Amino acid sequence: MQLSGSVVLLTGASRGLGRALAQTLAARGAKVGCAARDRVALDEAVAEITAAGGTAAAFPCDLSELSEAAPLVERVESQLGPISILVSNHGTATVGEVADLSLADFEVNLRTNFLASAALTEALLPSFAERGGTLAYVLSGLALRPLPAWSTYAASKAALRGYADALRIELAGGPARVLTIQPGTMQTGFLDRMARVGEPKILRPRSAAPPERVAEAVARALERDRARVSVLGSSSLVQAADLVAPGLVDWLLARMYRRP
Ligand SMILES: NC(=O)c1ccc[n+]([C@@H]2O[C@H](COP(=O)([O-])OP(=O)(O)OC[C@H]3O[C@@H](n4cnc5c(N)ncnc54)[C@H](OP(=O)(O)O)[C@@H]3O)[C@@H](O)[C@H]2O)c1
Repeated sequence: MQLSGSVVLLTGASRGLGRALAQTLAARGAKVGCAARDRVALDEAVAEITAAGGTAAAFPCDLSELSEAAPLVERVESQLGPISILVSNHGTATVGEVADLSLADFEVNLRTNFLASAALTEALLPSFAERGGTLAYVLSGLALRPLPAWSTYAASKAALRGYADALRIELAGGPARVLTIQPGTMQTGFLDRMARVGEPKILRPRSAAPPERVAEAVARALERDRARVSVLGSSSLVQAADLVAPGLVDWLLARMYRRP
C-alpha cells in the first residue's frame, strides 16, 4: 500500500510507539488522525508533524468507552477523508498475580486492548471490504508467551491476536488486508506506567528497542502489504525456546519469578 496520500487512523498516538509511528507515517506522506485521551500530548504530536511539513490532526477520545469508536471514525473521515489504514496501537496494562486481581481488572484490559480494536474494526470493515484498506493491530510478545503477573494484558493481546488472525483469513482474496505487529519490550516507559495490583515482581528483559525502530518496521510492513511484522528483540529467544521446550521455559520463568 502506498502511504503517501493515505489517511491513517492511529490510536495511542499521544506517546510511545504511537507518537513515533505518527511521525514516521506523516514523513512518508500519510495524513495521520492521532487518537488518544491526552489532548495536550496529542496537540504536541500534531504540532511536531506539521512543523516538519506533514499532515496530522488530533482526535481526543477514550477508547475504553466502546461507544466512542464509530464516532471517532466519522470525525477522522470528515476532517481528513476516507480512512485507508487503521493502526490499533493503543494499549494499557494492569499487572498483578491472578490471586490478587479482580474480574474488573481483566475487564478493563480486555475492553481497552481487545474490544476497542474490534469496535474500530466493526466501524471500518464494510467500507474496507468494498474499497480496500489495511487493518493493523499492535500485539505483544506476551500474546504468545505470557510472563507471570501479566495475565490480564496477555489475555487481552492473545484475544486480539486470535481475532486478527481469523479476520485475515476471512478477508483473503478481497481488497482489505490485516497486519499484526509483534513488538518486544520498547523504551517507552510503558512498564513504569502500568497499574499494579498487589506487589508483583516484574521480569524485565535486558534490552528494549527504541520505538522509532519499531515504527520504521511497521511503516515498511504497511508499504509492502506484509501480514505480520515482529520486532521482538531479546524476547525472540524466549519465543523460539517456547516452541521446542515450553516446559523448560515455564521452569526457568518460575525460578526467575520466585528468586528473591
Ligand atoms: N512498551 C513495550 O514494551 C511494549 C511491548 C509490546 C507491546 N506493546 C504494545 O505497543 C503498543 C504501544 O505501547 P507503548 O509502549 O507505546 O505504550 P505507551 O507509551 O504507554 O502508550 C500507550 C498509548 O495508548 C493510549 N491509550 C491507553 N489507553 C487508552 C484509552 N483508554 N483510550 C485511548 N487511548 C489510550 C495512550 O494515550 P493516553 O494515555 O493519552 O490515552 C498512549 O498514547 C501498546 O498496544 C502496547 O500494549 C508495548
